[in-house]
Amino acid sequence: MAADRRGKAETLALRRRLLSDSCRLFYPEDPIKIVRGQGQYLYDEQGAEYLDCVNNVAHVGHCHPLVVQAAHEQNQVLNTNSRYLHDNIVDYAQRLSETLPEKLSVFYFLNSGSEANDLALRLARQYTGHWDVVVLDHAYHGHLSSLIDISPYKFRDLDGQKEWVHVAPLPDTYRGLYREDHPNPAGAYASEVERVVNSVQEKGRKIAAFFAESLPSVGGQIIPPAGFFQEVAEHIHRAGGVFVADEIQVGFGRVGQHFWAFQLQGEDFVPDIVTMGKSIGNGHPVACVATTQAVARAFEATGVEYFNTFGGSPVSCAVGLAVLDVLEKEQLQAHAASVGSFLTELLRQQKAKHPIIGDVRGTGLFIGVDLIKDEATRTPATEEANYVVSRMKENYILLSTDGPGRNVLKFKPPMCFSVDNARHVVAKMDAILTSKLGAQGGSLELNLQPIARTFQPAQERGSTASQESLKRQREQGAEVWRGPGNPSHPFPWLCLEGLPEHQVGRN
Ligand SMILES: Cc1ncc(COP(=O)(O)O)c(C=O)c1O
Repeated sequence: MAADRRGKAETLALRRRLLSDSCRLFYPEDPIKIVRGQGQYLYDEQGAEYLDCVNNVAHVGHCHPLVVQAAHEQNQVLNTNSRYLHDNIVDYAQRLSETLPEKLSVFYFLNSGSEANDLALRLARQYTGHWDVVVLDHAYHGHLSSLIDISPYKFRDLDGQKEWVHVAPLPDTYRGLYREDHPNPAGAYASEVERVVNSVQEKGRKIAAFFAESLPSVGGQIIPPAGFFQEVAEHIHRAGGVFVADEIQVGFGRVGQHFWAFQLQGEDFVPDIVTMGKSIGNGHPVACVATTQAVARAFEATGVEYFNTFGGSPVSCAVGLAVLDVLEKEQLQAHAASVGSFLTELLRQQKAKHPIIGDVRGTGLFIGVDLIKDEATRTPATEEANYVVSRMKENYILLSTDGPGRNVLKFKPPMCFSVDNARHVVAKMDAILTSKLGAQGGSLELNLQPIARTFQPAQERGSTASQESLKRQREQGAEVWRGPGNPSHPFPWLCLEGLPEHQVGRN
């Protein structure tokens, strides 16, 4: 297969020689070479299977056959730009409009989340005639120059804050200014935005837009208190600006109860602009901006064409439509709600057992586990979070951290993530936390050896991984589990019940 024609070491050496170090790898000390993906699983060049807990781009599952087929079929017929009439683009716009409040009825198609946010900024400035932007602290909105400028997560390490950018506190009710014991955190955080707006106006400046992720993810998997966006929108509208909801990581049914994460704020809240990306193409570069007639008309009034060479191509729209079809057919929004609440409940049980877990927050398959040094200060347990991530990788589970303290374990897996996956991950996490710290916050520090463990032979489950690779893993000290578990279960290799303790991670 073309993807694994080189040994891993050679691929790494070539990458180091030919690619910039700015393009980082996961697990830089021991990167993984992934050659195949299916559903919620990724496979390395040896055929080892990794459970993917973080890739929200592969929304309906890695290489979903219906999405792949839709792209292939359309590629065989036509792929061109959107200056010709074609049904795919109007079908896609129509289908998206059915998911959104009526007011958001004009669509632009693009290739990346960054392009979507950059266009949102242009729309906002054109519509309002203003220039300045208010953003939430620790936000990330994309890699274009315009978006680095409105991403405190990036600009703090670069040139710093531009005079037209204004930062409001992150509405983090666990570690932020106003916490879970505040009688009205939504109002208190919105007053902070009002304070920022007032100070901008006092300087004689004018606000074009407020940008926020509907659930700030880089900020640490934050769930803003309900009602916050409504009050912010009032302050921003009063100042003549528009509200931009960045749904690039969190939209499309991920939050379970709703299709869009901004709907968690309440039925009465409608942004002026919504940006979409990542998940909507399941890995194919598709992005979209939805806005109101009024905003679109103001943009048109310049007389300048908006042209995007690849955005809205027949193939991209076929892919987008297929993703919507799969979401519907497989009822993945409802699935995210039920698996997400099951996973959250298991993680909350872990919180009761391990004091290092300060908070478990989330909705649907968007969950954060906030690791702390101690409850009194809630100091981020950064090294411990890194430790958990690297031990999970040794256990073939891909997890990552977010938040300014890089201490929040984030879960945003492909939406086909199962109840058994949830059980498996939490059992592993429990074993790792217990062996590292002891339950109930003991500071027991065991001398841990990495556990190399692989699953049942892949070809027994219809996968192509070879006995050779399995033999090789065994020779390298990997422990291959063939049961007990429940053999009648669709994923018996993921049922950990009944495993001796040493096999689930303590050694
Ligand atoms: C919230 C948010 N907005 C925008 C972007 C930019 O998207 P892209 O990388 O597709 O340009 C990202 C990417 O990580 C993101 O997380």
